[in-house]
Amino acid sequence: MRQVHARPVINLEEDAFAAGIPFEIFAYLRREAPVYWYEWPHGRGYWCITRYHDIVAILRDHETFTSEWGANLEDWDRFQAVCRRSMLETDPPRHTQLRKLVSAAFSPRAVSELEPLIRSIVEELVQRTFARGGSFDALSDFASPLPIRVIARMLGVPEGDTPWLVEVTDRLMGNTDPELSSISPYDETSNQYCLYPFRHPAALELFEYGHWLAEQRRQQPSNDLVSKLVFAQIDGRPLTTAEFDNMFLLLVVAGNETTRQAIAHGLVAFADFPDEARRLQANPVLLPSAVDEVLRWATPVLHFRRTARRDTEFEGHHIAAGDRVVVWFISGNFDETVFAEPHQFLVDRSPNDHLTFGRAGIHFCLGTHLAKAELRIVLEMLLPYLTRYELVERPTRIRSNFANGFKRLPVRVIG
Ligand code: HEM
Repeated sequence: MRQVHARPVINLEEDAFAAGIPFEIFAYLRREAPVYWYEWPHGRGYWCITRYHDIVAILRDHETFTSEWGANLEDWDRFQAVCRRSMLETDPPRHTQLRKLVSAAFSPRAVSELEPLIRSIVEELVQRTFARGGSFDALSDFASPLPIRVIARMLGVPEGDTPWLVEVTDRLMGNTDPELSSISPYDETSNQYCLYPFRHPAALELFEYGHWLAEQRRQQPSNDLVSKLVFAQIDGRPLTTAEFDNMFLLLVVAGNETTRQAIAHGLVAFADFPDEARRLQANPVLLPSAVDEVLRWATPVLHFRRTARRDTEFEGHHIAAGDRVVVWFISGNFDETVFAEPHQFLVDRSPNDHLTFGRAGIHFCLGTHLAKAELRIVLEMLLPYLTRYELVERPTRIRSNFANGFKRLPVRVIG
């Protein structure tokens, strides 16, 4: 007999994520309404895509599902689209041109050359925290400094400016959390910033900083990404200011906010599953699969959005041209038809083709190799400590339905 499950209230607003991921809503949607029209209280509604294979199908089909009208829930008009498009919000051929400008710096080979730098930063952070003992905030004292220092080195940003960059990007990613940002994208006050990423004035601060850096590199070029962007050409012309600004902001935000949260989720997972920590300590060959399991478990980016370019049929539903389509990576990563026992954290999970970086589409995360290298080195160097800390309290989550992350993660070294 078919099991009857109560229908949960389908609320996908920020408050529904404040205490934790509403897994029961996603399980219900996957089972009963995998292509679900969601009435968004802040504007036009959208289709919710929650099954793993449907998400992959949408990501693969950029001909039908364009990124040019934004990748987040905010609805753009034409003018906003022109001003705010980064590579993440472009289709080919412009997407291919923009991605090509920076892709070599994120190749497996380039990332392997960064490994000594990553190791030295992790070593320093471990010495200052886990090795010293006592209590500390594993987010601000351990997880945050690594990714920002690495991406800063790649961009040519002075290391002394990295704490400020973390603070600025926290305001952007936390734009729906009143503790992190005094301006909400849903308030009228944000209208004056509607041409900036995240509808937020912090984007302007980042742009101005990027201009200052670009001017320095123009006068004194170096072997870094900002120099490359300053002298880059597309169709025989330099980048426009908007192209430079949006690329710079994308790299700074994506390069630090996401990997940091993956590290933090990993620390929580090992505290919650001490047997898995012991298993990894006993079998360090499992490090690569543990990295992927941390990434699946963490899913730091909960969703991205596409827009239907034309009328189309999808899994029995008519999706009209202009309809917004939101793929929920967090749901796909816990799809029980793809991942056995999805709510078990298993360091040897295999296969583990998670959707954390997207999958198979043209926007597949540029920083995949970098993020994986950072996580692998963190886990490797933390190996002796994985069973020697505890959470002082449950971490405080960011109030967001886009960023799956924490604001505070107090831990205590034990033993
Ligand atoms: C755990 C860490 C990370 C996660 C969870 C993550 C997640 C994602 C996701 C979900 C996408 C979109 C995929 C799609 O739409 O198909 C993406 C794209 C992107 N990511 Fe990451 N990312 C991470 C680390 C990084 C790092 C370290 C960088 C370095 C700058 C980076 C740069 C980018 C860029 C530039 C794009 C846009 C690519 C494009 O549009 O072609 N990411 N990322």
